[in-house]
Amino acid sequence: MTLNNKILNFINNNAEDEFDSYYIYDNQKISEQCQIFQNISYKNKSIHFATMANINPYFLRIVKEAKINVFVNSILHLEEISKVGFKNKEIIFTSSALSNKIMKHAESFNVQINLDSPNQLKQWQKLFPEKAVGIRCNIGNKVKPYSTHAGFFIGEKSRLGFTPEEIAQISDKSKIKGLHLYVGTDIFDIDYFINCYKELADIAMDFPKLEYLNFGGGFGVSENGEKQFNISEYNTRVTELMNEISLSYGKNLKLILEPGRIIGGEAGYFVSNITDIKKRGDKQLVGINASTVQFPRPLLYPETAKHPVMIIRDGIQLISDKNHSTTIYGCSTYSRDIFSENINLPELRIGDTIVFGNSGSYSASSHMQFLGFPKPKEFFV
Ligand SMILES: Cc1ncc(COP(=O)(O)O)c(C=O)c1O
Repeated sequence: MTLNNKILNFINNNAEDEFDSYYIYDNQKISEQCQIFQNISYKNKSIHFATMANINPYFLRIVKEAKINVFVNSILHLEEISKVGFKNKEIIFTSSALSNKIMKHAESFNVQINLDSPNQLKQWQKLFPEKAVGIRCNIGNKVKPYSTHAGFFIGEKSRLGFTPEEIAQISDKSKIKGLHLYVGTDIFDIDYFINCYKELADIAMDFPKLEYLNFGGGFGVSENGEKQFNISEYNTRVTELMNEISLSYGKNLKLILEPGRIIGGEAGYFVSNITDIKKRGDKQLVGINASTVQFPRPLLYPETAKHPVMIIRDGIQLISDKNHSTTIYGCSTYSRDIFSENINLPELRIGDTIVFGNSGSYSASSHMQFLGFPKPKEFFV
């Protein structure tokens, strides 16, 4: 992966700040990713960025300027996005196991809410008997479920949403104004999306007062940018499907999408410096001035979070034979503080800069207090 000049120049101009690890984002890339969803042809649509992927206010402002709305799953994020200026009608709140207090709090923002279970619906109807609401659906095994990065989001192995049986048992279906589905994350297979959406569409026919179908997010991002999500095919197929559904339903239903990872994933980089090197036979163990609690994807998903690694030496990106088995570790005593294990890199030196690509989503927003390292600064260029 080659760093573009804008990112490289920023890093070089900050080189004297040797002991600060930080995130840097390419603003234009974020805007472009917002635009690909705005370009979806189906007219009656609303695109909501999933803020768990990135909650930085500056990031959210870029999203807002691109006329993208937001989806949140917590009160804290609801408050954060309100500060950035998102209006009620631009916000979706979907979560699970809400207490009475949190449910009332979320409702007081007057945003669109999707509930996760029959008990949550009962609780809602007791609190707000006249107010229609959305539900999150688990389509069960109607489509063979995928296990994605974070496990299963549909089918028997998923904890989330109403099962088909629970959906059928909802007594007053006219009080449900929207159906929500989230099929998994980091998916490239458009057939899978469409097959799942079709199952939701079948369910929709039993609900007489629907306003929207929310198909969630899950759009894939590849490690090295070598594969792109085929948004053009997705656009054609989702638009075709929504037109068919609206025709059968007898009403132009609103399409809602909640892209997270794909909006900022490739736009973000995590930058740190090499502070120690240990030679172990043919292998180099490379210590950097950061901990995975500051860049937690490798800690949370050690098997699957394979971030591309780039090296800068003397201001230039080092491109050479990658012939040393390398493990990059964090500056703590925690044995699992490992960024990358057994990857091939050139022989490295103390003082080289390490840049992890594909770090704009679920990275800064996952910072943990564990181990005691500060939340890294985030820069936008
Ligand atoms: C309900 C819901 N919608 C959207 C998203 C965003 O997903 P992704 O980042 O895979 O696009 C998530 C992520 O967890 C989610 O739980």
